[in-house]
Amino acid sequence: MRFIDWLDERLAIRQLIKVMMTEYYVPKNINFLWSFGVLIVLMLVILIISGVFLLMYYKPDANLAFDSVNKTIMMDVAYGWIFRHVHAVGASIMFLLLYVHMARGIYYGSFKPPRELVWLTGYVLFVLMSATAFTGYLLPWGQMSYWAAQTITTLFEKIPFIGPDLVIWIRGHFIVEDPTLTRFFALHVVFLPLLLIIVTAVHLYAVRIVGSNNEDGEPIPKEEKKKKGIPFWPVFMSKEFFVMAVFLTFFFFLVFFHYEFAMDPINFIPADKLQTPPHIYPEWYFLAYYEVLRGFFFSQNLGLIAFVLSMFIAMFLPWLDRSPIVSGKHRPLFQIAFWIFVFDFVFLTILGKLPPTGLYAWLGLIGSIIFFAFFFSLPIISRIERKQLENGGKK
Ligand code: HEM
Repeated sequence: MRFIDWLDERLAIRQLIKVMMTEYYVPKNINFLWSFGVLIVLMLVILIISGVFLLMYYKPDANLAFDSVNKTIMMDVAYGWIFRHVHAVGASIMFLLLYVHMARGIYYGSFKPPRELVWLTGYVLFVLMSATAFTGYLLPWGQMSYWAAQTITTLFEKIPFIGPDLVIWIRGHFIVEDPTLTRFFALHVVFLPLLLIIVTAVHLYAVRIVGSNNEDGEPIPKEEKKKKGIPFWPVFMSKEFFVMAVFLTFFFFLVFFHYEFAMDPINFIPADKLQTPPHIYPEWYFLAYYEVLRGFFFSQNLGLIAFVLSMFIAMFLPWLDRSPIVSGKHRPLFQIAFWIFVFDFVFLTILGKLPPTGLYAWLGLIGSIIFFAFFFSLPIISRIERKQLENGGKK
């Protein structure tokens, strides 16, 4: 107890515990989708710990990287394969959790005032996580690692004026080579995880300050927080430990029995700079964006602009969706648009792995247009709902 007092005097530790845990009230009218944030924190911890163990044997050298992963870690080091499976499956599951977490936020309007900063810090986390996954994918130095990095870095060439120089700067060479591997390594193991940890802390703090949204999008005044909510610690977390246990069972089932979905077979072939694989595609979680890149097949430049826009457009949701009705639960028109968007995202993900020719190319174009139509329809839907409300509808 003395130690806590000592810390409290110097770091106001009790105040911090109150703000972050014991006096943070989670609304009662939420569903299981509000568990995903905590699962993402758990997944981040698992990825960092498994990553540190992999780092003990990984060699960031173009001549050694492939064997250090596929031979040393997978075969020679005791239980090394478990850490590799945990890390690879973990990355895939992280994106699944993130997409559900983001879709929950979109549906229930969790990005609307006063939660804009919760949304924006969350979006920064999504971009950081994407960069972490992209840089990490090169490290095993397999065929798909190599060609995915080569393809994506080539896209920067299209940037006017600075493009060609920028690509060489990113790669550290004219093509993806040893210097590319070492700089991606530095980003993947030091810089990006550090940023992820810092921004996660800000994200969690922001949620505490404005409070969690709820199924009805109903604002809860400060004085009613106790009545309409339960304390995060220990009440909410006791339920959350159960959710974690169920999640970990599912996660380790995948790690031990179905890890193949997170490891492309072509990546078990060492990188060959002279042999391009017949189809180059990213991991499943980037396929929808990749399909938007290919979707505008008649113009490479348009495809590139669409690709960049597709990655960032959701960040602007607080300004696109200005409807006074917060939760999608009370917005029939929005619900139609939302579910079309979700199916379209899945559709684009499926198309992303198919060759972009004939009918598939046209379907990719249609899917990409629907993707953007969702975001651009939001100001119109908001206006209709505002009018309905002014004419006496209920909020
Ligand atoms: C490393 C990544 C992330 C972590 C660790 C994380 C963690 C959390 C946690 C623990 C919560 C509170 C519990 C909950 O509401 O589920 C939360 C809420 C929230 N997060 Fe995230 N999150 C991450 C990424 C994102 C992303 C990518 C977005 C969206 C772009 C986002 C948007 C939100 C929003 C809007 C809330 C408030 C939800 C509400 O009040 O209804 N987060 N996050």
